[in-house]
Amino acid sequence: MASIQPTGAEALSIEKRDGGVVVLRMDVPGEPVNTLKASFAEDFARVFDELERDTSVKAIVLTSGKKSGFIAGADITMLQKAKTDREAAELSRAGQRALDRIAKLRAPVVAAIHGAALGGGLEVAMACHARIASDDPKTKLGLPEVQLGLLPGAGGTQRLPRLVPIQTALDMLLTGKQLDAKKAKKVGLVDEVVPEAILLEVAVQRAAALAEKSSGPRSAAPKGPKLEGAEKLQEAALTKTPLGRRFLFDQAKKQLLSKTRGNYPGPERILEVVEKGLEKGFEAGLEAEAVAFGELVVSPQAAQLMSIFFATNALKKDTGVDDPSVQPREVHKVGMLGAGLMGAGIAYVTANSAKIPVRLKDKDAEGVARGLSYVKNLVDQKVKRKRLTVREAGEQLSYVTGTTGYDGLRGAEVVVEAVFEDLALKHRVLMDVERECGPQAIFASNTSSIPIGEIAKASTHPETVIGMHYFSPVEKMPLLEIIVTPKTAPWVTATCVELGKKQGKTVIVVNDGVGFYTSRILGPMMNEAAFILAEGVKVEDIDDALMDFGFPVGPITLLDEVGIDVGEKVGHIMHAAFGDRMKPPAGFEKLLADKRFGRKNGRGFYLYGDKKKKGKKQVDATVYGVLGLSPGKQLPKDEIAQRCALQFVNEACLCYGEGILRSARDGDIGAIFGLGFPPFRGGPFRYVDTVGAKEIVRRLERFRDRLGNRFAPAPVLVEMAKTGKTFHGESTIAPGQHKVAAQG
Ligand code: NAI
Repeated sequence: MASIQPTGAEALSIEKRDGGVVVLRMDVPGEPVNTLKASFAEDFARVFDELERDTSVKAIVLTSGKKSGFIAGADITMLQKAKTDREAAELSRAGQRALDRIAKLRAPVVAAIHGAALGGGLEVAMACHARIASDDPKTKLGLPEVQLGLLPGAGGTQRLPRLVPIQTALDMLLTGKQLDAKKAKKVGLVDEVVPEAILLEVAVQRAAALAEKSSGPRSAAPKGPKLEGAEKLQEAALTKTPLGRRFLFDQAKKQLLSKTRGNYPGPERILEVVEKGLEKGFEAGLEAEAVAFGELVVSPQAAQLMSIFFATNALKKDTGVDDPSVQPREVHKVGMLGAGLMGAGIAYVTANSAKIPVRLKDKDAEGVARGLSYVKNLVDQKVKRKRLTVREAGEQLSYVTGTTGYDGLRGAEVVVEAVFEDLALKHRVLMDVERECGPQAIFASNTSSIPIGEIAKASTHPETVIGMHYFSPVEKMPLLEIIVTPKTAPWVTATCVELGKKQGKTVIVVNDGVGFYTSRILGPMMNEAAFILAEGVKVEDIDDALMDFGFPVGPITLLDEVGIDVGEKVGHIMHAAFGDRMKPPAGFEKLLADKRFGRKNGRGFYLYGDKKKKGKKQVDATVYGVLGLSPGKQLPKDEIAQRCALQFVNEACLCYGEGILRSARDGDIGAIFGLGFPPFRGGPFRYVDTVGAKEIVRRLERFRDRLGNRFAPAPVLVEMAKTGKTFHGESTIAPGQHKVAAQG
């Protein structure tokens, strides 16, 4: 006979079953998912003490009382309360002690996992003596702490390498990668995968069987991954011999630094504490883990990465409009004009993530076929990687149908336009849509540079015209920048924000203007890179300096990727709109005359295809001849990076002052997710706050005196330098307060 009993800890309840098996359920009251709070460490210890004392308890199953998942992780806000590294290290030690208590229990504990077991949640599961997972796609196991600049601080860095092969453990710890149940079983992280319907019963049986086999005392550390034969020998060579460990960790560190360039202390500390544990033992590993955890929690990098996490979560709840009574309208069908690179990508995320039918139109059958095959390729890849079943793939493909006319577009609540970047063409298709789809259909343009207000001029009901600016490749890039004009109706904005979220995007809403926010702030940085190049600095030195600063690619590589022709066109648009401070350096037209368009035609600043030797990227040295340059000038890396980055940051501040942005938060997220601004710097506005507006103004003025007015500090920065106000924090200046001063 089962009986449910409270435990005194409000998140835990006990069900005693016949035969001495206890089912312990975790259900944090009032929360949609289970997250671990500091107070739970004591609750866990107390409940387990009681169970230990009760000799009728033979085995325990730990599971979730929530349908939403096992345990989604630790409550991050509690980390923000730690003022010093010692305080944070103490939190880690408390977590470690609580989980050691589970691991050392006389009665075996089996974790029954359905849904997310992430971060602290997986650490709890790893402290148990066996893990059974449901085969549901929602079941995910991982340690994502590294993404917040942290490491797992409740024994995760020590237990994972003792449950799975070391290479798998490092991969999971360093990337935060999540495994589904099947993969987790394959690497030895879970013992059995079963349908959700029988999960609890299987776990109860397993717990009873374990109790039969042995009853304590148990060690806090798992015994090591269950491997055989050659794999076992290889694992031992890598983890148990000093030479093997040196080789393994030297290699891992080299690979890591080539990616992070030393900007992220989190993964470096992970390597250090895993190595320590393998060398000196589990206890020493735990101590090193707590110390490193404490130091990371109070590091500036973690503070910035956590701020991104909170901003992203806040954006998930943001409707994009101020009036809470405005509701998004349901979208049952999306029309997609243009089946090129962007159109096909947008069609794919609409079918794959939003699961909404898309009618994809191009001007000819060839265009339609190209778009459809792009979508099919992406779906096929997902099937290959087992992310989709064949049935799901078929269903998603059936959502995307092609046409060369307007048949089948009627009834679409939203029509997204991604035809060529040509205002007259965009006007033409807008008028077609209004005629064919009626006045209620939203017309959303994916233009990268034309103001939405200009496009809306051809509309008879401009309140339904909006910008939905996606980034390439659409299926990978997380940002969607939505652009509203003064005429765009709030329900239109709310509907597009909701659609963007369903497509899996982080959505920011900005006000209309040339280049909106993202294209506009990228422009001056690209120009500055071109100026530095024109001064005779080598292509690779410029790219390298910006990658050291923390961008994923340098500006010259980016120009090759985007297309030199596209860059040139946008450069002229920006120059015309913003005057001399955005004037690109002369000479780029020579690249176009030489038919250098970048990667797309295999001719750019770098070598592509057959011309390129294997391995690292190589600059195409003939590009200097075309530009009439003889490279060799040495500029300190920091100066190159500062010149480019300050152009970017200053332009972001101008956008803020003009009211293009609704908040500094949106500006930070847009720059990081859309343009690769270094996440550990928290975005351009957090960068200003961290360095200090006064110092930023000083640097800009020094460059202005040497290099010209394009470095004139944004008025909002000047005001902040004087008043001590910041973008984030208690004393801020609202956006849109420097409209007049910013012009010209
Ligand atoms: P693309 O050249 O790959 O595709 C444009 C497609 O539009 C072509 O397939 C073309 O046949 C089709 N098209 C032309 N006239 C049409 C009409 N009357 N009806 C239906 N289809 C028509 O260009 P891409 O790169 O996809 O760019 C499309 C739009 O997205 C442009 O406005 C561009 O500025 C913008 N954009 C591009 C980004 C990029 O990285 N490529 C990023 C963000 C925006």
